[in-house]
Amino acid sequence: MGSFSLHASCLAKPKLPWSNDCFQNLNSLKLPALQRRPKFHSRKASKVLAFYGLKSPPYKLDALEPYMSKRLLETHWGEHHHGYVEGLNKQLEKSDILYGHTLDELVKVTYNNGNPLPEFNNAAQVWNHDFFWESMQPGGGGMPELGLLQQIEKDFGSFTNFKEKFIEAALSLFGSGWVWLVLKRREKRLEVVKTSNAVNPIVWDDIPLISLDVWEHAYYQDYKNDRGKYVNAFMNHLVSWHVATARIIHAEAFVNLGEPNIPVA
Ligand SMILES: [Fe+2]
Repeated sequence: MGSFSLHASCLAKPKLPWSNDCFQNLNSLKLPALQRRPKFHSRKASKVLAFYGLKSPPYKLDALEPYMSKRLLETHWGEHHHGYVEGLNKQLEKSDILYGHTLDELVKVTYNNGNPLPEFNNAAQVWNHDFFWESMQPGGGGMPELGLLQQIEKDFGSFTNFKEKFIEAALSLFGSGWVWLVLKRREKRLEVVKTSNAVNPIVWDDIPLISLDVWEHAYYQDYKNDRGKYVNAFMNHLVSWHVATARIIHAEAFVNLGEPNIPVA
C-alpha cells in the first residue's frame, strides 16, 4: 500500500507558514480501499504516521490582503483548520474500520446517509477548508470565464441574479455553515446551496464549484459582525472563477451539460 511519513517536527505546534516538505508525498498518496490496519502497526508507529495532512492554501498567507488578512488566515488555517485535521487523525487512530479511505470517501461514508458518525464533522471540515482555500485567489472576483458564465446565465438568468442569490444565501444562513455554487448532477444545472455546520454537497453526490465559509471564525477578526461586508469582499475580490471553470470542465466528464450534436447524414 502507499504510505508516507510525516516528520515528527511537522507535528509540533504550527510555526507559520508550514513547509510543504512536511507533506511532500501527500498529493501522490493513493490509499487502498477499505481494509483493516495490518497487525504489525504498533501504537508507537500510529503516532508518527498521519492519515490526513494539513494542506496549505495555494498562496501565501498575506496574499489575500486587504480583503482577508494574514492574521485571519493564521488563525483560520493554522488553528481552526489545523484543529480539524488533528481531531480527525486522533479519532481515526481508534477506528480501524475507517482506515484507508480518500478524504472524499471518508466524508461520504461518515455522513452515513444523514445519521453522521462521530468522525463526520472533522472529516467534512477538513474537506471544506481545503476546498475553500482553493476557491479563492489573489486578485479574484470579477466575471466568470465564457463557458461557466454561459451556464450561470442559463441557470440563473444573469450573473447579477446569481450574485444576489449567493449573497442572500450567505446572509440568511442561520448560525454556522457554508454557501456553495454546485452543479446538480441529476438535474444537470447550477444551483446555490447552503449547508449547516460541516455538511457539504458531496454527501448528496452534487459537484461543488465554489464555497464560502460563513462560520464566524472565517470573518470576525477582519469584519467583526459584518457578514455582508465579508460576503461582498469574497464575491468582488477573492472568489476564483479560474478554479471554478476548471472544476466545471472536470465535472463535464461526468455530467453532460449540452445538447448532443448528432451529425446529419
Ligand atoms: Fe472555517
